Amino acid sequence: MDEIIKEISARIDAVEKRNRRANVGTIISLADGVARLDGLSEAMYNEMIDFGGGVTGIALNLGEDEVGCILLGDASNVKEGGEARTTGKLLSVPVGKGLLGRVVDALGRPLDGKGEISADGFYPVEKIAPGILPRKSVNQPLQTGILEVDAMLPIGRGQRELIIGDRCTGKTSIALDAIINQARINDEHAGEEGFRPVYSIYVAIGQKNSNIARTIQLLEKRGAMKYTTIVAASAAENAANLYIAPYAGCAMGEYFMQNGMDALIVYDDLSKHAAAYRQVSLLLKRPSGREAYPGDVFYLHSRLLERAARLNEENGNGSLTALPIIETQQGDVSAYIPTNVISITDGQIFLETDLFNKGVRPAISVGISVSRVGSSAQIKAFKQVAATLKGEYAQYKELAAFAQFGSDLDARTKAIIDKGDRLAEIMKQPNNAPMGADAEIAVLWALKNGFFADIEVARVSDAKAALESFLSARKPELLAEILKKGAFDGDLDAKMKSACEEWRKTFA
Ligand SMILES: Nc1ncnc2c1ncn2[C@@H]1O[C@H](COP(=O)(O)OP(=O)(O)OP(=O)(O)O)[C@@H](O)[C@H]1O
Ligand SMILES: [Mg+2]
Repeated sequence: MDEIIKEISARIDAVEKRNRRANVGTIISLADGVARLDGLSEAMYNEMIDFGGGVTGIALNLGEDEVGCILLGDASNVKEGGEARTTGKLLSVPVGKGLLGRVVDALGRPLDGKGEISADGFYPVEKIAPGILPRKSVNQPLQTGILEVDAMLPIGRGQRELIIGDRCTGKTSIALDAIINQARINDEHAGEEGFRPVYSIYVAIGQKNSNIARTIQLLEKRGAMKYTTIVAASAAENAANLYIAPYAGCAMGEYFMQNGMDALIVYDDLSKHAAAYRQVSLLLKRPSGREAYPGDVFYLHSRLLERAARLNEENGNGSLTALPIIETQQGDVSAYIPTNVISITDGQIFLETDLFNKGVRPAISVGISVSRVGSSAQIKAFKQVAATLKGEYAQYKELAAFAQFGSDLDARTKAIIDKGDRLAEIMKQPNNAPMGADAEIAVLWALKNGFFADIEVARVSDAKAALESFLSARKPELLAEILKKGAFDGDLDAKMKSACEEWRKTFA
């Protein structure tokens, strides 16, 4: 009898030990936020692994006799030889309106000292993007408030538009202006029947803490923070946090989209994201390919950006617009990561150091920038005044390059250059000063109808500012009518004409 009991308890022990080994692992190596564990044979891909002390890991490599985990948060207390256990949960982050106005880390934990986050629920960080059927094509504009973008590279809700350029060319500024403009519009139309606010998520990846602090300050100052969530994974954190942050931000944005609302997400920037993923992959000893990136680096960004979408009515009519940012080296858009992301997005806003240094700001190179889907969402009045601008601008650039060598220009060439000079001036815009769509349309109407033609080029930007303040102070009802009618007809044209004539009398 004793023998049998001994035998049975030995077997139970063995099973328990195996089960325990299945769900509890021992850290055999730990470096730079990547741990390799013995045991944990039950771990699932992307499962949260509890390392104790508030440190969470994610199982990324499921090997035959070991599991590779990346560690999120401050992992300084985790040591080799320590234990970690499976949780049975996939990595998820809190979502909901309670995140607006908050700064959180890659796991959605508060970084702003404003207390607990009141979440509406948790969304998995990785999710399959909506298929074709629940989507519809973009049909509502996302006004960035940047005249050049709204006129020549219009963005629609649900679109993915890449902002790409070298260091310090104004990439972040464009994205932040778009966020600030959403807040301005939200404030202006709050409570109006049928108005759909846009909520923003700004994901800071691998930036200096001082930069992130400046961004928070700017958004606070401009009253945009209350509509915005900032997901911060700074350069000081380990690569795993940088790798997860955009997916976490995306889940927070998806909440708005899935619940019939509109959201805008900025990934600043995906070059640093790719570098963080490369680091994680090398530490996990995955085979590396071109530029030492792992073979699935395309999938890294495609599965993220595919999640931005415009859903159809049956699916709640929500949208998630994505503005990923990529930093290039010496304008090289054909490098590995830039070409990947260009091919995934619906267009790109290309910024040039040369233009930036010449004071052409925003430093958008119109010729190689494109927005492939947004124009179907542009309001008609905008199309009426802006449809030909991109072509005119391209023609002007080409002729201007030649004209600097010759002095004798035929009348037609001179006319194109004169007009282009003024167009280029009109498109200059300081950062943090987004314009309303009404003012943008009115300025372009005046340009199209020759009201800037006899103004010296050097004074055009003053004239533009004067027109804007004249209209907002003296003709607010006309500005309102532009948006209300949404298109120019004979009557509105006549009103604009008389308003512009009046303005020109005040602007000598
Ligand atoms: N339209 C503008 N007019 C005037 N100044 C601008 C404009 N846009 C950006 N700047 C200024 O240029 C500087 C760089 O801008 P920003 O940080 O947006 O560039 P970036 O490309 O994101 O830089 P980084 O590569 O460091 O991330 C900032 O000081 C900003 O204030
Ligand atoms: Mg930047």
